[in-house]
Amino acid sequence: MTSRAISTKGLCRQFGAVHALEDLTLEIPRGIIFGFLGPNGSGKTTTIRLLLGLLDPTSGSAEVLGYDTRTNAAAIRERSGVLLEHCGLYERLTAEDNLDLFGRFWRIAPAARRARTRELLTNLELWDRRDQIVAGWSRGMKQKLAIARALLHRPELVFLDEPTAGLDPVAAVALRDHLSRLSASEGVTIFLTTHNLAEAERLCALVGVVSNGQLLAVAPPAQLGARRGGTRIEITGSGLTDPMLAMLNALGGVTAARADGRCLIVDLRAVADVPSVVAALVSAGFQIESVQNGSGSLEDVFHALVEAQP
Ligand SMILES: Nc1ncnc2c1ncn2[C@@H]1O[C@H](COP(=O)(O)OP(=O)(O)OP(=O)(O)O)[C@@H](O)[C@H]1O
Ligand SMILES: [Mg+2]
Repeated sequence: MTSRAISTKGLCRQFGAVHALEDLTLEIPRGIIFGFLGPNGSGKTTTIRLLLGLLDPTSGSAEVLGYDTRTNAAAIRERSGVLLEHCGLYERLTAEDNLDLFGRFWRIAPAARRARTRELLTNLELWDRRDQIVAGWSRGMKQKLAIARALLHRPELVFLDEPTAGLDPVAAVALRDHLSRLSASEGVTIFLTTHNLAEAERLCALVGVVSNGQLLAVAPPAQLGARRGGTRIEITGSGLTDPMLAMLNALGGVTAARADGRCLIVDLRAVADVPSVVAALVSAGFQIESVQNGSGSLEDVFHALVEAQP
């Protein structure tokens, strides 16, 4: 068994003149939640379809669970669970009957099917609603059921295309909790796409940032933040002088300090350097009014990466 769940080399896909995906080279280890982050039309869904062998690459290659997507797509699909943009449930059936039907598709024996259905519906807090027709359900409940369906046959790898899209913030948080727990308890690798930076930051061990079909960065969320110079704080106050700025720029832990009107923007190597900056400013006579977290979140990193594109 390979240690990589997914490995791609120079994967490209064009639709006519549109380069939906360009030269994607990516390695995703097993057992993690990987977040594929990018704006609309950046190539996220195209990538999932390529990885499942639903679409042929224009050039390049990909191995999923050790199988080539062009020659062994059936083996990949057998071992993968999928939630694409449409949840694909049978609206007129109950929750339990939906899972039972998909269990038949996967040729799971009746007793095992019932046990697995119960296990998943219980884990996702849907067991009490198992006899309800899905048509009347909220989007969040349907989404949870669709995730149960994707996990039914105990896949090694699950693709979730925007699992929390269209959910209210409370439902999205609940679903994220479920995904974390499911990935831990089922030991599956999860490849999810999202526009939501905070989501990727909270959920994923590894994040790939994609824009216009190009992979801009791959890193653990915390490291991605560090690329932009660690932590940034914004200090407002009065009495700032040039010597104070020079003093800050010479201070250990400070990578850059500059004034922007009444605001002092200080880039630091780490959060741990904040107190020494504040102390140095106070003793130099700067009257601090507020200290706020500046950029440095994944959101800023993302915008910086996208804007830096040629
Ligand atoms: N079947 C297709 N035929 C023609 N163009 C396509 C097709 N599928 C995707 N594209 C184009 O490829 C590009 C990438 O689309 P894709 O659906 O992969 O983006 P996405 O990142 O999933 O976007 P979203 O966040 O909106 O779901 C877009 O320009 C899209 O119009
Ligand atoms: Mg998409």
